Amino acid sequence: MNGLRLRLNHEDVEIQVRDPAATLLDVLRDDLGLTGTKSGCAIGYCGACTVIVDGEAVPACLLMIGLLEGREVRTIEDLNGPEGLDPVQAAFVRRAGLQCGFCTPGHVMALRALLDEDPEPDDERIRRTVDGNYCRCTGYVKILDSAREAVATQGKRAGATTPAERRR
Ligand code: FES
Ligand code: FES
Repeated sequence: MNGLRLRLNHEDVEIQVRDPAATLLDVLRDDLGLTGTKSGCAIGYCGACTVIVDGEAVPACLLMIGLLEGREVRTIEDLNGPEGLDPVQAAFVRRAGLQCGFCTPGHVMALRALLDEDPEPDDERIRRTVDGNYCRCTGYVKILDSAREAVATQGKRAGATTPAERRR
């Protein structure tokens, strides 16, 4: 297969794909060294591998790389920029939303996609968003605390618009 072009973490890249049936998760971790995206179940069940593709949180273990030509992919490595931690990451640190941290990139990416779409989600929407992300350590209370804090700090950020404002 020839080079596959996509936008990865805000850069146009061309990837030499050895196996078009390889998953995005395999390519990220094994070929590109982006190991922040974790492999848990590898069957779309645990959410550890969550990345954002064209604005939507999806499990990288279920996406064949050969189908991603021209798509926009964001991984956890994209969030820690020159201005420091993303507000979702910072909230997980402040609220102790992790123990071993294995599930955390998936939670953070799922919540990042939610907040990009809706800066002020209600509690029910937050719960539904992380419903597909499993954690074997924390019991979820701290994860939900972190998510609520991310909403509080991010949703009121200067320049952020509410869904109602965007519909105007
Ligand atoms: S590793 Fe992809 S959902 Fe579990
Ligand atoms: S913090 Fe260990 S699996 Fe979630």
